[in-house]
Formats: sequence, structure tokens, C-alpha cells
Amino acid sequence: MKAPEGFHVNANPYKEAMVKDSGRNPSSSVLSPQEVHKARTTARLAVFEAGSYIREKFQSQGLQVESKGAFDYVTEVDRFCEELILKRLRSSFPDHTLMSEEGAVENHSPSHVWIVDPLDGTTNFIHGFPMIAISIALAVRGTVVMGWVFDPLRRELFEAHRGVGAWCNDRPLPPIPQKPLHEALLATGFPFRSKKFLDPYLQVFKELFAEVTGIRRAGSAALDLAYVAAGRVQGFWEIGLKPWDMAAGALLIQETNGLVTDFWGKSAYLESGHIVAGSSLVHRFLLEKVGPLREALAAGS
Ligand code: IPD
Ligand code: CA
Ligand code: CA
Repeated sequence: MKAPEGFHVNANPYKEAMVKDSGRNPSSSVLSPQEVHKARTTARLAVFEAGSYIREKFQSQGLQVESKGAFDYVTEVDRFCEELILKRLRSSFPDHTLMSEEGAVENHSPSHVWIVDPLDGTTNFIHGFPMIAISIALAVRGTVVMGWVFDPLRRELFEAHRGVGAWCNDRPLPPIPQKPLHEALLATGFPFRSKKFLDPYLQVFKELFAEVTGIRRAGSAALDLAYVAAGRVQGFWEIGLKPWDMAAGALLIQETNGLVTDFWGKSAYLESGHIVAGSSLVHRFLLEKVGPLREALAAGS
């Protein structure tokens, strides 16, 4: 599926592919133990397979790169990994809907939706900059219940299961510590696809930068979110992401006692793509500070 350009909420396939069940308690019980086991086995196999292909191709010569839009690229490796992952998911879960960045939505049961980013950080990959990930999430009746973010170069697998916990390479991730703001390291993504948001973005950046210990722009939103969950950074914000960038990473943060919302403090970040995440302290601070971006979005500028 072609990634839609810009920030048109209505063009977001997440909305079309999902059936909302907001009244339902998002607990692990939406999947049977057998389903959990099968989902884990399949997703782990898929990320490991795709990850070994990415490692093989990392810094290789003569990579085929296509442009999908302004400053937005896809390589033969993104496409090959996507096919590997979707093949695995299709064969284990033929009735589930599959939604992946580079392919079409494969519509089956709307109650079970897999959300896949086969290579998060394509620009990094093209440049041989070693911050890339594979992200897979499973949503049941509109709620993400399981998620995997795999860093193939460091061989780090972050896993989350709603209501059960989060792990990094099978070790449980503890609750995110509440570092004070002046000790907080933040992560972000630049609004490179829609540079009309650059001015308000820089205003927000400047205000935050004055109060925290540092800000990183590593180039993989899935890893940025996983790093919040792992306590390596204390907060993250970005405008205009897609569901496949965030679905798994956001669950990791929720399962480590962090908060994830849109710029209005609501839970609609998968639909809008505008995300603020972190420990409760840093999340509150970020939410206060993204005001200029909120205003620019409201004005449609
Ligand atoms: C991108 C990365 C990047 C973020 C972009 C995403 P892609 O994903 O997550 O950090 O800033 O908005 O699109 O295109 O490399 O899969
Ligand atoms: Ca991505
Ligand atoms: Ca991608």
C-alpha cells in the first residue's frame, strides 16, 4: 500500500480497517492462550526472518531506491521484508486483516488487524545509519493488544502484551522511572514530509530544548517509542506519523506505565498520527509545550 502523503486523517487506512469497540476493557483476555502463543511465534519468526535479510543488505552496494513522495523513500529491502512478514502472517492467520506500509490492505475479518512496518527508518537504511527497526502489532476490535519492535542490527526484540507486560529480549521491562525534567532526554521526529509545520515545530523544539538535558532525532519512530519504554529516553513527540510507525511502540510504553496520547491529550494518536509519549511527568510537560503545533494543525497551516 502506498503511504498517503500529508496529514489527511481521512486517508488513514487504520480507520477503514478497524472496527471500534471502545466500551471494551482492553485486557489480554481478548485472545486465548493458544492465540497468544501462535501470534507470538508467528510475529517473532517474521521479524527474525526479515531482520536477517535487513542485516545482510545493510550497507550493501547498488540498492534500488524509489521515491514515494517528497523526501519519502522505499527500497527493494522494504518490499522484500514486507512480503516475508505478510506471508508468515497470512499463513498463520488467513482470516485476519493485514495492513502494511508498502502494500495494500488485505481485508478479511475486521476484528483482527495486523499493522506492519517492514522497515522503519528507510532513510537511515539507505544511508547506512544504524537505527532501523521492524514493527508489528496486532489489534483486536480496535485495540492494539500485542506488539513487537525488532532492531535487527543490535538484535534487540521489544515485545508487549496488553495487560501482561513488556520485555526486551525476554527480560521484563520495569516501569519507566520518573526523571525530573532537567535530567530528561527526549526523542523526536522532524516534520520532513510537511515542511509547512516546520516553524511551529521549531518553536516547540526551542522551548523544550531549554529545559531538558538533550533531544535526539534518530530516524526510527518505532525505536524511539521502544526506547521510551526501555527508559533510554523519557519522552517522544512527532507530528504526522502513520499507524505502523506507532502501534507496537505505543503499547510498549503503556505496558511500562507510560502515557501515550495525541496532541490534545486524547487517545486518537493512531488516527491523527500526532503523538506525545513518555513518563507521566514528561508526557504532561510535552503536552503543555506542543501548543504551537496544536494551533498550526487547527488552523490547517
Ligand atoms: C519513518 C521513521 C521516521 C519518522 C517518519 C517515519 P519509515 O518511517 O519512523 O523516524 O520521522 O515520520 O515515516 O518511512 O522510515 O518507515
Ligand atoms: Ca515507519
Ligand atoms: Ca517503513
